[in-house]
Amino acid sequence: MKTKLLSYESSGKAVIRKAAEILRKGGLVAIPTETVYGLAANAFDPKAVEKIFRAKGRPQDNPLIVHVADFDDVMDIADYIPFSFMQLAKSFWPGPLTMIVKKSDKIPDIVTCGMDTVAVRMPSHPVARKVIREAGVPLAAPSANLSGSPSPTCAKHVMDDMDGRIEAVLDGGECEVGVESTVISLAGDVPLLLRPGIISKEEMEKVVGFIEVHKAVYDKPEDGEKAASPGMKYIHYSPKTEIILVDADDEEFAGFVNRNADNAGAMIYESEQDLFSVPTVVYGKKGDYDSQAHYLFEALRKTDELNVKTVYARLPGQTGAALAVYNRLIRAAGYRIIKP
Ligand code: TXA
Ligand code: MG
Repeated sequence: MKTKLLSYESSGKAVIRKAAEILRKGGLVAIPTETVYGLAANAFDPKAVEKIFRAKGRPQDNPLIVHVADFDDVMDIADYIPFSFMQLAKSFWPGPLTMIVKKSDKIPDIVTCGMDTVAVRMPSHPVARKVIREAGVPLAAPSANLSGSPSPTCAKHVMDDMDGRIEAVLDGGECEVGVESTVISLAGDVPLLLRPGIISKEEMEKVVGFIEVHKAVYDKPEDGEKAASPGMKYIHYSPKTEIILVDADDEEFAGFVNRNADNAGAMIYESEQDLFSVPTVVYGKKGDYDSQAHYLFEALRKTDELNVKTVYARLPGQTGAALAVYNRLIRAAGYRIIKP
């Protein structure tokens, strides 16, 4: 298959129409969102959704997020809308928040992998919203990477992984947030955070009160444990290079890396280059987790260009937006953490 690269900047409305037409006919189009690029299909068309799993090499038990452009569209997707859903939507939609609720019969089983719940998100990216509206159907879309790779934050990353596998990539520029949406389940008695993102637990607690955090957010799921969010059990975000996290302060970290410089590199913050005697990739500013999140996946992809065996990165903190960076990095590192 020849994958078309459609540029929103140069052709605007025409490419929105083209993308919507492909989607209505049951094809796959990668679209920009404010978080990462999504690999979209008509959520009501089981055959189209099946193609997503094939194109990504995605395990058959990892359900997809359904994207809407207008609140009314949720009525077709959810069986029941809890009050907490309304409250969170009012505060954070459109935006990088995905909420899980009981599903309606209109959503095919393949979208939810047979689960009785469905994940819903209303993206804020203007191009994503235009495509959803023009297609006239909600779009099922996981991140547009090959299963296991870092999520794509620009059209080039998508092409690197998906060229020849999907009908088109809609280039809408670089994604602003850079890590995937926060995922919270509202299907149980207490809201349960399944994936941290740039909208933090603390911010959401101001709106809905206490939120439980699934333990797989912090740690490796135990073997054989039933995953609340199936995506959490898979190896994720991994470049080919081995990533190892170092539980140390800034000074200790530089010392450790420079002592172990043989065949090694480091992920570091802006303006730290002079402190390191190894090749480095930069991801954002020290203490600014939004900027670290923004550059994280690109930096992980770039570690493969350093041509070293191991790349060291600092273990991030676990509160606020830092938790989003922490959660991605421990997975990228395959949970390898050392304390010098
Ligand atoms: O920012 C994002 O969320 C991006 C953009 C494209 O919207 N999408 C994305 O999708 O990251 P994906 O498929 O890469 O991640 C979806 C996560 C997976 O961990 C999946 O297991 C979980 O959400 N999920 C989806 N439906 C679920 C459900 N019904 N119950 C529990 N977890 C669910
Ligand atoms: Mg993904």
